[in-house]
Amino acid sequence: MSSQENPEESLPAEQGDAHGEVARNDDPFADPGLPPHKPRIQDLDERAAKRSERVVAFLFTLSMLATVGFIASFVAFPIDRIVYVWPLGHVSALNLSLGMTLGIALFCIGAGAVHWARTLMSDVEVADERHPISATPEVKAKVMADFKAGAQESAIGRRKLIRTTMFGALALVPLSGVVLLRDLGPLPEKRLRTTSWAKGKLLINQNTMEPLRAEDVVVGSLTFAMPEGLKEDDHDFNTKIAKDALMIVRIQPDEIKDKKQREWAHEGIVAYSKICTHVGCPISLYEQQTHHVLCPCHQSTFDLSDGARVIFGPAGHALPQLRIGVNGEGYLEALGDFDEPVGPSFWERG
Ligand code: FES
Repeated sequence: MSSQENPEESLPAEQGDAHGEVARNDDPFADPGLPPHKPRIQDLDERAAKRSERVVAFLFTLSMLATVGFIASFVAFPIDRIVYVWPLGHVSALNLSLGMTLGIALFCIGAGAVHWARTLMSDVEVADERHPISATPEVKAKVMADFKAGAQESAIGRRKLIRTTMFGALALVPLSGVVLLRDLGPLPEKRLRTTSWAKGKLLINQNTMEPLRAEDVVVGSLTFAMPEGLKEDDHDFNTKIAKDALMIVRIQPDEIKDKKQREWAHEGIVAYSKICTHVGCPISLYEQQTHHVLCPCHQSTFDLSDGARVIFGPAGHALPQLRIGVNGEGYLEALGDFDEPVGPSFWERG
């Protein structure tokens, strides 16, 4: 190989060495090493260390007080109390106080831990060589020894005030989460299994808001009804109508196939829950000739002339029927509540 093919061979030896020396000095990735360790004021002056200790203890104590404040706010403020706070405007007093106290409690634990680490724990940099993933007994012993040394250097054994207040703050903070469990609300008890329908309650036409008479319901029509006493401006109207909603059709009595259905109807007028037994959508489409109703959500289809049984779709349960009759004045009325829960059919599997 000629010198033209390998230019390095054509360099004088001294020049090559000199070039190499320059490259090492200009290496941008050279390890700069550790700066000399400078002791902190707390390392030199026990009074400064005590001051830092008091600051840390103060922060942990503040965290404890904030957690107590969180619980007190939860008990003291009603959920609908609104207050004006500049610059936020009108806000819920409960949400504001819960947010502020929990924020202070968590912040103070963090700030206390950071101040403790920066001023009182050892700040000597420690380098650890990479080692195989599976630890040998010697390494495990070393880790334990390091852990104990770290615990000793953090002074947690010596600084009793910090240790006590830190454990107090850490023990109290989880109580905030326990208290919030109450917001999951009261147990439903029997509320999901019953509706507002009861013996003697009139059927109110949801379009006219007038009580329905038997002659108002003609063959081929679909009427939606709700129980007497339910008002659209009631605060729990939506909760109640989600269970009470009723659909009413009139079928020629001889077209009704199911015996119980015929007995629970009044002269061919049948009343069924409007809430689909799949996942609870309101049913709204009625096919006059077949007496099929269709849920628009996932196309479950029910046959109202045959006990509202499912003839298509994912619903697993017939629509519950409401037993109805007519009172002395000719108005349609319920003869009781549904005899099974309305809505999704998970009830039968629970
Ligand atoms: S909710 Fe009616 S079919 Fe799914």
